[in-house]
Amino acid sequence: MATSAPGLTTTKAPFIEEAKAKGQIYIEQPYELYSEENQETWRRLYARILPKWEQYAHPKFLEGVRNLALNPDRIPRLEEINQFLEPLTRFKAKAVSGYVPAYVFFDCIRQRDFPTTITIRDGAKLDYLPEPDIFHDVAGHVPMHTDPQFADVLVRFGEAARSAAFMVGDIQDKDERVRTVESIIKAMARFFWFTIEFGLMRRPEDPSKLCVYGSGLLSSYGELQHSIEAPEVQRYPLQLEWVINQYFEIDHYQPLLFIADSFDHVFSEVERLEKWIHEGKCSNVAPGEPHVNEEDLASFLEVTGSA
Ligand SMILES: [Fe+2]
Repeated sequence: MATSAPGLTTTKAPFIEEAKAKGQIYIEQPYELYSEENQETWRRLYARILPKWEQYAHPKFLEGVRNLALNPDRIPRLEEINQFLEPLTRFKAKAVSGYVPAYVFFDCIRQRDFPTTITIRDGAKLDYLPEPDIFHDVAGHVPMHTDPQFADVLVRFGEAARSAAFMVGDIQDKDERVRTVESIIKAMARFFWFTIEFGLMRRPEDPSKLCVYGSGLLSSYGELQHSIEAPEVQRYPLQLEWVINQYFEIDHYQPLLFIADSFDHVFSEVERLEKWIHEGKCSNVAPGEPHVNEEDLASFLEVTGSA
């Protein structure tokens, strides 16, 4: 690796800025641009989290790490990851330039493409980063995608988003349509957050104990242990009615986490979420985070040309 490579550091990568300026969401992974410092950041992140994974991660996640043959010493090439991943669940990691509007994201996972960030955080700030990076996306998310049951949960989210988009497209009044879709996006984003990103699960081999399957936790050296051990964290059984009305903040450790029984349980809750969307139970959820922006709204409304 040439030390003179410009780097693909989060928020500091000219390659990414150019792609965004051109409006490109889907990009290549220009591997030669990673600097030696970027590679060193991956090595450090991986080495320090590995023992935490062994202690706290869901067994299917650890199996996924082995199945993907993740290399502790260098940033993975997405095409190598996909050679191992695709035969298992037909999922693929697909490089993106950054933020993906809500519907585009859900529709991608419906088609078993996972929008994947290729930049890596600044080595000077290993711990806190508000935006995803390749360590979060590939080391935190992708190992779970090797499990067929988990993969089906993701696809189910995408299907729920699609049927929600058609439902709101049928609402005649424009203001009501926009209000409804905003609320549904909030409900879906909250449910995704408290399961796929920050979910805890009963240990398959001992349901009296907990493990972690949420990727936000699995890619956080500090919060992984904290989520299971810290007495101040509130941990409750996964409840749809609570989760869709519960705001969250992304800039500190989560004070409240939800426990699922199994991946089957999460899958059936996503089915219930879709049913609730159609029954109007997600059309007026409690206000608060996450913020739904214009692009998120438009992405849903454009599906039926009702933007
Ligand atoms: Fe994530």
